[in-house]
Amino acid sequence: MRVLVLHGPNLNLLGTRETGVYGTITLEDIDARLHDLAAELGVELECFQSNSEAALVSRLHTAPGQFDAVVFNPAAFTHYSIALRDAVAAVELPVVEVHLTNVYGREEFRRRSVIAPVAAGQISGFGVTSYLLGLRAAVELVGREAGVRA
Ligand code: DQA
Repeated sequence: MRVLVLHGPNLNLLGTRETGVYGTITLEDIDARLHDLAAELGVELECFQSNSEAALVSRLHTAPGQFDAVVFNPAAFTHYSIALRDAVAAVELPVVEVHLTNVYGREEFRRRSVIAPVAAGQISGFGVTSYLLGLRAAVELVGREAGVRA
């Protein structure tokens, strides 16, 4: 099983970005924790971060055939990118939306996700654990789909 982890804009600055909100964990730390869990679960993992909406759309387009599921933190694009929403809807892969912070407890504009209606589900508010739970959920979903096909 192969899982793609996508990180959206500004997440490359984790560690120094708004530490009162996001803490001091870096993106490298998150990817390392994900790789450890992936090894434990017997999953191959690739992590990709971009500040560009187009690059994220293109990475989603090429994911089918290469990956079985996607764990996606669209960051600020969550709240307004119809292009990313359409890309998630277009690819025939389970996409688990994750957020470090509880977006429903923050500013009004963060309380709406345009991605959530086309995602398999959303995990929000648990810091790095949101990603780890997202990976577990993706693995579970792929296993369930394989079971249905068998
Ligand atoms: C975020 C929440 C978004 O609202 C914000 O724009 C981010 C990070 C999170 O992981 O909590 O960049 O996706």
